[in-house]
Amino acid sequence: MPATLSASSLRIGTVELANPIFIAPMAGITDRPFRSMARELGAGLTCSEMTAAAALVRAPEDSLQRVLDLAPDEHPVAAQLVGNDPQMMADAAQICVAMGADIVDVNLGCPVPKVVRLGSGAALARQVDRTVEVLQAMVSAVPVPVTAKMRLGWDHDSINAPDLARALEAVGVAAVTVHGRTRCQRYTGYADWEQIARVKEAVEGIPVLGSGDVRDPREVERRIRAGVVDGVVIARGMMGDWHLLQQTVAQLRQGDPGPDPNFQERLTLARDHWDRMVEFHGERRGVRLARKFVVWAIKGCAGAARLRARVADLERAEDIDEMYWDILAAGEGPQGWHRPEFSSGEG
Ligand SMILES: Cc1cc2nc3c(=O)[nH]c(=O)nc-3n(C[C@H](O)[C@H](O)[C@H](O)COP(=O)(O)O)c2cc1C
Repeated sequence: MPATLSASSLRIGTVELANPIFIAPMAGITDRPFRSMARELGAGLTCSEMTAAAALVRAPEDSLQRVLDLAPDEHPVAAQLVGNDPQMMADAAQICVAMGADIVDVNLGCPVPKVVRLGSGAALARQVDRTVEVLQAMVSAVPVPVTAKMRLGWDHDSINAPDLARALEAVGVAAVTVHGRTRCQRYTGYADWEQIARVKEAVEGIPVLGSGDVRDPREVERRIRAGVVDGVVIARGMMGDWHLLQQTVAQLRQGDPGPDPNFQERLTLARDHWDRMVEFHGERRGVRLARKFVVWAIKGCAGAARLRARVADLERAEDIDEMYWDILAAGEGPQGWHRPEFSSGEG
C-alpha cells in the first residue's frame, strides 16, 4: 500500500502515524519508560528493543512480558525481532501481535558478532533470498504491517540496501528503515544519506525512513520535503537530549524548532525519565539502569568529572534525587552542553 507522503503524517500499511519522526529501536535503551517519555514528547512511533524470536517463542506464557515489555495501552508501538528462521520469525511475529504490537519490525542491521555468527541481523541481509523468505513468512502470518531495518550493506563493496528493499516490498513489507552505514562501519564515520536516497529511488511506494546522525531538526525537514526519505528515526542524538525529539516534531509541524532548552529544562526531562525507570523497574534495578542516563545528563555540566565519579554508587531512589539537585546546583559547564558521543550498539 503506498505511503501518504506528507511532512506531518505517515501511513505504514494500515497504520496511520501522527508524524514521521520515530524513535530508533535501541537495545538497553528503548524500554517501556523510555518509550512512554518519547510518546509523550511527540514521537510518531516508538519501537521495542530488539527481541530474539527464539526467546519469545520459547518463553513461558507468564514471562512473555519480561521478554518483550510492551504495555497493554502502548500505541502506536512496533516490536522488533531478530532471527533468521522463517517459521520461528512468523511464530514470534504472531506473539508480538497478540501482545499488542501495531507493527512488527525485523532487525537486518545488527552488527554484533554474537548475532551475525548465528546468521541474523546484518548477516541475514547479505542473503537477499533468505531474507525475503523470512519476511514473506511473517507477512503471511500477521494482520499488521511488517517492516525491516537494514544497513546499506555488509561493507562498501557490497551495498545491497536498494535491491533488498525492492525485494522486500515485492513480498508485502510495508516500510523500510535504512541506517546509512555498513555493517563493517558499525557506528563509526558518518551515515551516508546519498546512499539512503538510492533506496528511496529503488522502491515503488513504501515509506523509507532514514537513520544515522539525526541531530538537526531543520535538516530533517529538508530531507523529508526534498523526498530523500519519508521520515527519520532518532537514535544517539537523543541521548541526554529529549528536546531533540520535541524540536524535530515542532520543526515539521510549524516549520520552526522553537527555542533551545536551557540547562534546567533539559535536566527536568532527564529526571522525569529516571523517575519512570525507578517506578517501572523497581528501585534497585531502576536506579542501576538509570546510571548511564545520568552520565549523559552530566555531560556539559560544571564539575562533570566529580559528579560522574559518584554515578557508580547510585543505588537508591534518594541517591538519584540528590544527584539531580547536585547537577542542577553545579549548572552548565564553561563549554556549555554538548551531545555525548557513542561507540556501540546493536543495529
Ligand atoms: C546503544 C544502541 C543500541 C541499538 N540497538 C538497536 C536495536 O536493538 N535494533 C536496531 O535495529 N538498531 C539498534 N541500534 C541502531 C540504531 O537504531 C540506529 O540505527 C543507529 O544508532 C544509527 O543512528 P545514529 O547515528 O543516529 O545513532 C542501536 C544503536 C545504539 C547506539
